[in-house]
Amino acid sequence: MDTPLPDDLIEALRTTRHVAVLTGAGVSAESGIPTFRDAQTGLWAQYSAQELATPEAFHRNPRLVWEWYASRRERVTTAQPNPGHYALAKLEARVPRFTLITQNVDGLHLRAGNSDPIELHGNLMRARCSVEGTVFTSWAAHETVPPPCPNCGALLRPDIVWFGEALPSAALNRAWTAAKSCDLFLSIGTSGVVEPAASLPRIAYNRGATLVLINLDVATSVGPRSFYLNARSGVVLPALVSAAFPQPASA
Ligand code: APR
Repeated sequence: MDTPLPDDLIEALRTTRHVAVLTGAGVSAESGIPTFRDAQTGLWAQYSAQELATPEAFHRNPRLVWEWYASRRERVTTAQPNPGHYALAKLEARVPRFTLITQNVDGLHLRAGNSDPIELHGNLMRARCSVEGTVFTSWAAHETVPPPCPNCGALLRPDIVWFGEALPSAALNRAWTAAKSCDLFLSIGTSGVVEPAASLPRIAYNRGATLVLINLDVATSVGPRSFYLNARSGVVLPALVSAAFPQPASA
């Protein structure tokens, strides 16, 4: 790995009481899943994600939106967690307290072994009734698209938080609590433009946590008690976690 890891960062990770991690699309990019600011490809090249991920788009053309999410679900199903995901699962096992907050909806943190990621924006592998809100992890194929809710017949919709919709309050409260109580906050693979997730690193920093930013954007100037690693998460996370915890976990 060509990005040198600062010794004080390794020490901060090794000695942390409570590390909180916020992940974005950049963590899954190395599993072949396009980020949100990547241009759409194929059938969806004429749309931006932001145009499709809205209640208005679903109301206007539920079939188009449902099929966009179905194509993303299919892509995720064939994708695999990458070394960055596995490094975060290893980190959870090695620190006293660990909170993973993700904006990603691909479920790859769960598949990599993290036990309880806070899914701020929902999960592609779930659908919910557009009227009752009942959540489903499986549903029968149906000649109408989107399929009807098995309970009430209303349209099923992806269990995703769309632009303009409120985030699940329980998830958001858990994320805020973690940002306020952690002593180390890692913000990884996110452009930090979508609220309220974008405020979490600042909340943690203002409460005295050490802040670590990892992405591929133009270098951000960071203050004291913070680090900026312009590196691929799939490379720098395994290196960072192995440097902080070189021994295998004790049985
Ligand atoms: N390693 C680390 N960072 C990466 C990598 C990588 N391999 N590849 C891309 N990045 C970084 C980019 O530098 C950028 O900062 O990941 C970030 C991707 O930014 P976005 O595409 O904006 O994704 P994200 O920040 O997750 O978007 C947040 O916006 O569209 C909404 O709800 C959607 O959850 C999404 C939210």
